[in-house]
Amino acid sequence: MKLFGNNKNSSTVDLSVNIGGLKLKNPVMTASGTFGYGAEYSEFIDLNRLGAIIVKGLSYTPREGNPVPRIVETPAGMLNAIGLQNIGTEAFIKEKLPFLRKFKTPVITNFFGDSIDEFKKSAEALSSADGVHALEMNISCPNKKAGWIIFGTDPKVMGKAVSSVRKTTKLPLIVKLTPNVTDICVMAKVAEDSGADAISMINTITGMAIDIRRRTPILANVVGGLSGPAIRPVAVRMVWQAHKAVKIPIIGIGGIMTAQDALEFLIAGARGVAVGTANFVNPHATIEIIDGIEKFLIEEGVHNINDIIGSLWT
Ligand SMILES: Cc1cc2nc3c(=O)[nH]c(=O)nc-3n(C[C@H](O)[C@H](O)[C@H](O)COP(=O)(O)O)c2cc1C
Repeated sequence: MKLFGNNKNSSTVDLSVNIGGLKLKNPVMTASGTFGYGAEYSEFIDLNRLGAIIVKGLSYTPREGNPVPRIVETPAGMLNAIGLQNIGTEAFIKEKLPFLRKFKTPVITNFFGDSIDEFKKSAEALSSADGVHALEMNISCPNKKAGWIIFGTDPKVMGKAVSSVRKTTKLPLIVKLTPNVTDICVMAKVAEDSGADAISMINTITGMAIDIRRRTPILANVVGGLSGPAIRPVAVRMVWQAHKAVKIPIIGIGGIMTAQDALEFLIAGARGVAVGTANFVNPHATIEIIDGIEKFLIEEGVHNINDIIGSLWT
C-alpha cells in the first residue's frame, strides 16, 4: 500500500524542519553525551551534514563524574552512570565553541544544574556565547535544594525550573524529558506551559546489572541509565503520546540505530530525531540515517519531510 503517491522519478526531497524557531537542514541530530563536543567525531564524518549537533551536558562548573566502572553492556543496550562529567560552561565556550563555529550546523548546548540558580547561570552564559543556537535543558538530575527530587519527575519542581530558565534566554529552549515518570503527557504539558519551545525525549531509563559471582552491582554507582535498542519501543510510544498532548515540536530519542528507526519516530510525531548509543557502535550512523531517510522519501514519493511527520494511521 502506498500512502504518499508513487512518484519514483523525483530525486529532490526537502528534508528541512523547524524546531521551535531553529531551522535545520535535516531532522537528524546527535544525542547529548554520545558525541562529545563534536570534534571527537569530525575525523569520521562531515559535521556539515548534520541537522544539528547537541553537545555533551554542561554544568556551570566542571564535574568529574562518577567512579568507574561507569558503563555495562546488556543484551539490547547499554547501561551508563557517567555522572554528567564535563568541562563546565566557561571552558566549553573558550575551548570547544571556536571549532564548532567553523561548521554550517547549528549547535545545541545541553545543560543541567543541581539548583534552579545553577540552571539559570549556565543558560545565561551559553545564551550570550557566539555560536550557540539553542539550549537543551536536561532535567534528569536531582534538585539538591528541593530535597534531591529529580527535576523532571515532579511537575511542580520542573515547571518552576523551566519557567525560571525561560526568563533568562531568548534562544529556542528545548526541555529534555525523562521517561522515569508515571505519565509522560503530564510532564510534556508542564514543559509546554512553562515556556519550552520544544521537548526532546527520551533520556535513559533507570536500570541495574549485577555480577552474580561477586554478588555486587557492576556499576560503581549501583544504578545507571539504559540506552540503545532496548528502549526504542518505549520511546516511540512516549513520543506518540506526547505528540497528541502538546503543540510544541518533539525531538525523538531512544535506540535509533538506522533510518528505519528514525522514521518510526517521525511518523509517530517527532519533528526531529537525535542519535545516541548508535554513535559508539558506528560513528557513521548519523550520516547513514540522513541518507536512508532521503532514500525512503524518494521511494515513497514524498517531497517534503514534513508530510511524513505525525502521519501515523491508527
Ligand atoms: C554515555 C552517555 C552519556 C549521556 N549523557 C547525557 C547528558 O549529558 N545529557 C543528557 O541530556 N543526556 C545524556 N545521555 C542520554 C542520551 O542523550 C539519550 O537521551 C539516551 O542515551 C537515549 O538515546 P539512545 O538510546 O540513542 O542512546 C547520555 C547517554 C549516554 C549513553
